[in-house]
Amino acid sequence: MNIAFSTANIILSKTIPAAETMNIVILGPGAIGKLWAYHLNKAGHRVSLWSRKTERVLSVAVEHKTESLLVQNNNEHRLKEADIILITVKARQVENAIHPLLPYLSQETILLFMHNGMGTTDLLTATLAKYPTLLATTSHGAMLTASGSVAHTGRGNTIIGGLNEKGKQCRFIADVFHHALPNTEWTQDIYQALWHKLSVNCAINPLTAILQCKNGDLAKAQNQAMLSTIIDEISRVMQSEGIDIQKNRLRSQINTVIQATAENLSSMNRDIALGRVTEIEFITGYLLKRARYHNVAVPENEKLYNQVKELERNGITK
Ligand code: PAF
Repeated sequence: MNIAFSTANIILSKTIPAAETMNIVILGPGAIGKLWAYHLNKAGHRVSLWSRKTERVLSVAVEHKTESLLVQNNNEHRLKEADIILITVKARQVENAIHPLLPYLSQETILLFMHNGMGTTDLLTATLAKYPTLLATTSHGAMLTASGSVAHTGRGNTIIGGLNEKGKQCRFIADVFHHALPNTEWTQDIYQALWHKLSVNCAINPLTAILQCKNGDLAKAQNQAMLSTIIDEISRVMQSEGIDIQKNRLRSQINTVIQATAENLSSMNRDIALGRVTEIEFITGYLLKRARYHNVAVPENEKLYNQVKELERNGITK
């Protein structure tokens, strides 16, 4: 597929039908990466993976789907032909994972980042300026099972938007992804969507990691005052960032996610329980950075950040 970008600020008029085959490489075949690999492949696209695994072919299976797929892994030729690189590695892995791929890519290759947390592309802005770059957030729930297949634990929505001017001309990508796995929408302001997801992660992830509890336990009376203070601080930072949000609406949105995922153990809960480094730097860490910039006091979130860092260093003491 040949997508020509003008150097001037002309909006790309070409619309690419969702059914046209695209060459897609997925960097980071964890649960979300494999979920998209499966659905994009089934939608007719030429999908391959790029990962730390050394096998040249990897299997992609989704629970309750009869067919499993065999997909090329680490094929340099596929990188050179790629129309889209979907980057689904964790936030803290983005910088190291993307650099080795860049020499293979054409300047028309679309880079699409999809992960929890914010701030990963801030240090890469100059590098990414060459490529049409998109950011996405998804609320699909997915987990890798012991056998390596994907359990699609909750259907959700995906929102995609442009990071740079070239990226903002790629609205058609939302149609391509929607056709593969609905609902996917395009937004002109991806930061609104990313901040909403960040607020959910800031409220749920550190607390459930520190208390080693399920998401649903945050609805218990003894956690309400703490949760409420945390959300108030988050809403003040969001307002300073120019995000259109009322404190009470944010509280009710976060409570809805807590109810909907009541039985889940959050990703940060799991990282701490399994002795792994968490995504705290790109979740609460990013909130603290923006709070400092706007001179907004966020003492409770700061406390959570420090407690999670302490748990990363010393683990859970029982
Ligand atoms: O990180 C997670 O676990 C999820 O984003 C969420 C929404 C908190 C549900 O567990």
